Amino acid sequence: MGLSVKHLLGIRELQTSDIEKIFQTADNFKQILNRPVKKVPALRDTTIANVFFENSTRTRLSFELAEKRLGADVVNFSASGSSVSKGETLLDTVNNLLAMKIDMVVMRHSASGAPWFLSQHINASVVNAGDGINEHPTQALLDAYSIREKHGDLKGKRIALLGDIMHSRVALSNIYCLTKMGAEVTVAGPPTLIPKNIQSLGVKVEYDIKKALEWCDVANVLRIQLERQNKPLFSTLREYALYYGVSKSMLDSLEKNITIMHPGPINRGVELTSDAADSKQSIILGQVENGVAIRMAVIYLLSGTREMTV
Ligand code: CP
Repeated sequence: MGLSVKHLLGIRELQTSDIEKIFQTADNFKQILNRPVKKVPALRDTTIANVFFENSTRTRLSFELAEKRLGADVVNFSASGSSVSKGETLLDTVNNLLAMKIDMVVMRHSASGAPWFLSQHINASVVNAGDGINEHPTQALLDAYSIREKHGDLKGKRIALLGDIMHSRVALSNIYCLTKMGAEVTVAGPPTLIPKNIQSLGVKVEYDIKKALEWCDVANVLRIQLERQNKPLFSTLREYALYYGVSKSMLDSLEKNITIMHPGPINRGVELTSDAADSKQSIILGQVENGVAIRMAVIYLLSGTREMTV
């Protein structure tokens, strides 16, 4: 009944059957979330720590809500205001949490591979809530789930990932997830923000945003990750918006009604204008809603393969 993995470190390690199982389980949880009584006691005896070494709004709240809807006990940890500022290591921090009998750790970290490192040293299940520029698996699962909800089977669907592909963990996890599920994927943006040889992951590359929009059924517009760019990779945000931003007038000029997605937080007026983000073609808030059901499914299915730490 569980997944083929003990930890959710990335989509790369998942089998297609795992993704299908997560979607089917999320379907059930989504029904429950729409009932007057939204809680189930499935994880009544489980304690989960949300350990966030990097800022978050959506992911953190969504995990906490998912855990509470499943009846788990939840503790939250932020690096700011913790003993990390006194020099405590990642492993010491987490081992101290585990000494308090934690069963599962949900972790966000600015270092790629940090959740993997943790999984090698602790017995509890680890869920990656975003690590550096590597993966953000639950974001990709909720993105793919939202496409499936809107457009049906992912097989053969044309999905464009637009913008800062180079620094986006959402892009990499989306590429793994969508290609495993049989969708066609094109990445589009400025050449400086698209990794060389990305075609080896089974995607096409387009440098003209308008052509990518004309090709796709769904455009997932990604945030410009200025905090991860050590040196300028385009001249100004104004120029980026002009050549690579998605606007409602651009969407209206297409021959079909494509779906617009964004993982958030949005840089309004940079990668996406407000009239496009808030248009009827946008399912951005639907993605957020689906995130809770997807995270409930992931936690529930992983708890089935978890070894108790006591
Ligand atoms: N999509 C996403 O990861 O958003 P947060 O950084 O707010 O969690």
